[in-house]
Amino acid sequence: MTSVVTHDRLGRPLSNLRLSVTDRCNLRCAYCMPEATYTWLPNPEILSFEEIETLVDRFVSLGVRKLRLTGGEPLVRRELPTLIARLAKKPIDDLAMTTNGVLLTEHLADLVSSGLHRVTVSLDTLSPSRFKALTGRDHHAHVLAGIDAVAASPLRAGLKLDAVVIRGVNDGELVPLLDYAGRVGAELRFIEYMDVGGATKWSAQNVVSGQQLLSAIAATLGPAEPLKEDGSAPARRFRLPDGRIFGLITSTTQPFCRTCDRARLTADGHWYTCLYARTGVDLKKALRSGQSPAELEQLIASVWTGRNDRGAEERVALRDQRGPLAGADSLRADPHLEMHTRGG
Ligand code: GTP
Ligand code: 5AD
Ligand code: SF4
Repeated sequence: MTSVVTHDRLGRPLSNLRLSVTDRCNLRCAYCMPEATYTWLPNPEILSFEEIETLVDRFVSLGVRKLRLTGGEPLVRRELPTLIARLAKKPIDDLAMTTNGVLLTEHLADLVSSGLHRVTVSLDTLSPSRFKALTGRDHHAHVLAGIDAVAASPLRAGLKLDAVVIRGVNDGELVPLLDYAGRVGAELRFIEYMDVGGATKWSAQNVVSGQQLLSAIAATLGPAEPLKEDGSAPARRFRLPDGRIFGLITSTTQPFCRTCDRARLTADGHWYTCLYARTGVDLKKALRSGQSPAELEQLIASVWTGRNDRGAEERVALRDQRGPLAGADSLRADPHLEMHTRGG
């Protein structure tokens, strides 16, 4: 295995690739897809599994060791386990998927046999009616069944749950969500509501900061102690007095840009070096125009070595000028700005 590492201008390695396999989703979460209509990526533009594999090979040659499948909702992509089985053969350390869980039960056996290492399921509420209000769909029972299925499968060891906390919506459910995660053996991460593309209803008033989350949890369960860990993971982990561990992803108030090693490839082959980047690099065009593996690697390496992104830190610097990153009209004009296109 090659030990190449490609560093950017801030010394951050290219080691983590998030692959959005579709921009489609079977939920409409209020913090991600609150609009009535969307511009979808056209079908002929969507990368085939062969094309994804070719690009992944280039990234792996340049040092990527962690792959994560995202969407939209990755399980709405047909034959996804076939792609996973191909990616599982690559010389990587981690092959994960972020899913909303709606289709997990029916696909779990295939996911396990495909060689997927671990899953993270989005779960923002334990209330079926709140789930319906938050996602626009009545699928709460499917999500819980999917989580139960993972908890009873070989994927149980890596199970994580992600909860985006929104003031006045689910901020009363912190302890019940922790209890639920404990029951299913998952590590729960609370995520600050982010002003990313797609979050057209975002306002600073609706953000519950990591500090506020820690105070609210401490009021019931006692103070949580931070674990000493380095690395590039977005979550900072904490231990409660009763020993339970949970994570906080504070991208809104205390971002992790300084250690961000992430690249994002959209389903139509556009490559973004930051969640907040306005523009990306059209790798599909380079690929379909017949560029050789060496040429593609040169292109990717030259972009990464020039990378200077600190998108979330720049958002913090806006202070009280902060609002949604993009309005609905600009998102319709360029769906690549959407979180559901960039892969959550
Ligand atoms: P692990 O390897 O398990 O730590 O996965 P992960 O936390 O990277 O993946 P996941 O898809 O669960 O990401 C959790 C959340 O972190 C996302 O849904 C976003 O809200 C946030 N996040 C992910 N990537 C980025 C990023 O590049 N920048 C910022 N600011 N936030 C991100
Ligand atoms: N703020 C925080 N996280 C978000 N996600 C999508 N939109 C937002 C947002 N505005 C993340 C959530 C969800 C995943 C698919 O994308 O973590 O679980
Ligand atoms: Fe919700 Fe994820 Fe779908 Fe966005 S992509 S609407 S966060 S499930």
